[in-house]
Amino acid sequence: MKKVILMVLLGVAAQAGAQTVDGKAVFATNCAACHQASGAGIPGAFPALKGNTFVQGDPGAVISTVLKGRAGMPTFATSIDDEKLALVLSYIRQSWGNKADAVSAQEVQAVRSQSSAGEVIKQEQPTNVH
Ligand code: HEC
Repeated sequence: MKKVILMVLLGVAAQAGAQTVDGKAVFATNCAACHQASGAGIPGAFPALKGNTFVQGDPGAVISTVLKGRAGMPTFATSIDDEKLALVLSYIRQSWGNKADAVSAQEVQAVRSQSSAGEVIKQEQPTNVH
C-alpha cells in the first residue's frame, strides 16, 4: 500500500515538473482576455498594464489589487497560488517595456496572510450581541 502511494506521489511530482509554468502562461490563461496579450488593455473597459505606473509602483498594492480584485476585475485569491501570482506579477512588471522589480512568492504570501487575517477578524466579530 505504501508503495502504491509513493508511486502515485512520484507520478504527480513528475507531471508537475514537466509543466513549464511561467508568468507569460499564467497571464495568458488568467489576464489576457481583459488586459490583452499586448498589455494594452481595451480603452474604456480594461486598463492598459503596459506603461502603467501603478503596476510598476509599490508591489504590495499591486499584489493586494490582484488578490482582492477591483471593480470589473475578479478576485484571484483562491484561483492562483503564491508562486504563480509572483510569476504573473513579475511578468506584468517587466514586460512591454515595463521596468520594475520582480515580485517574490514570499511577498505575495505576506500580503495574502495580512488580508485574510483581516477577513477572519471581520467575520468573527459578533454583529449583535445584545
Ligand atoms: C474580467 C476582466 C479582467 C481580468 C480577467 C483581469 N483583470 Fe485586471 N483589471 C480589470 C479591470 C476592469 C480593472 C480596472 C478596475 C478599476 O476600475 O479600478 C483591472 C485592473 C487591474 C490592475 C490595476 C491597474 C491600475 O492601473 O490600477 C492590475 C494591476 C490588474 N488589473 C492586473 C491583472 C492581472 C495580473 C490579471 C490576471 C491575474 C488580471 N488583472 C485579470 C479587468 C480584468
